[in-house]
Amino acid sequence: MLEGKKVNLRAAAKDDVSLIARWWSNAEYMGEHQDVMTISREELEKVMLERTTFFIIQKKDGTRIGHIGGWMHGPKMMEIGYAVKPDERRKGFGTEAIRLTVDNFFRTRDIGRIQAPTDTKNTASQRALEEAGFTKECTMRKSWYVRGEYRDQYLYRILREDWGKPKVLTGTV
Ligand SMILES: CC(C)(COP(=O)(O)OP(=O)(O)OC[C@H]1O[C@@H](n2cnc3c(N)ncnc32)[C@H](O)[C@@H]1OP(=O)(O)O)[C@@H](O)C(=O)NCCC(=O)NCCS
Repeated sequence: MLEGKKVNLRAAAKDDVSLIARWWSNAEYMGEHQDVMTISREELEKVMLERTTFFIIQKKDGTRIGHIGGWMHGPKMMEIGYAVKPDERRKGFGTEAIRLTVDNFFRTRDIGRIQAPTDTKNTASQRALEEAGFTKECTMRKSWYVRGEYRDQYLYRILREDWGKPKVLTGTV
């Protein structure tokens, strides 16, 4: 269990597969910048339990409120994806879940970089990534096909050498 101030992350188990299947087929849970996922239960179980490092985001009382997962992207890099239940958003849970995941991956793996692509219109995801220490790297034009149209994404990254560094504040006082 990865313990934060507001949420804990627990490694997903077989018992969580039905809930994730329900959430991933729900348009509100996936949000306006992602399509719902149509994936068989068997495939989802493989994704959650074998192919990715998949955490359930839980409140301190154990209530399941979201998921966050990471997968290898080449030998030395990981990519992450996540969502929080609509009624639990804007409470700082997503940011803390990203931070806990990044800490865990850099502590336990020999990787140099974690990245996250996010729709250019997905302000919530961008804010959460920035709060968790990520830097916007580039725009990937037409890299996402959602709800029948091509979308642009920003690619965010955090490098091992930037991990844990205080945020640099810009501007004048
Ligand atoms: C992205 C997501 C996980 C963020 O989770 P969350 O728990 O709401 O995030 P937080 O409460 O930690 O908020 C992070 C920042 O985003 C801001 N924010 C949250 N929702 C916002 C919104 N709808 N519009 C603008 N800003 C928003 C918060 O104010 C906060 O900024 P601050 O620290 O400057 O106050 C959540 O919005 C979500 O599940 N969205 C649908 C799925 C999704 O888009 N996943 C990401 C795919 S790349």
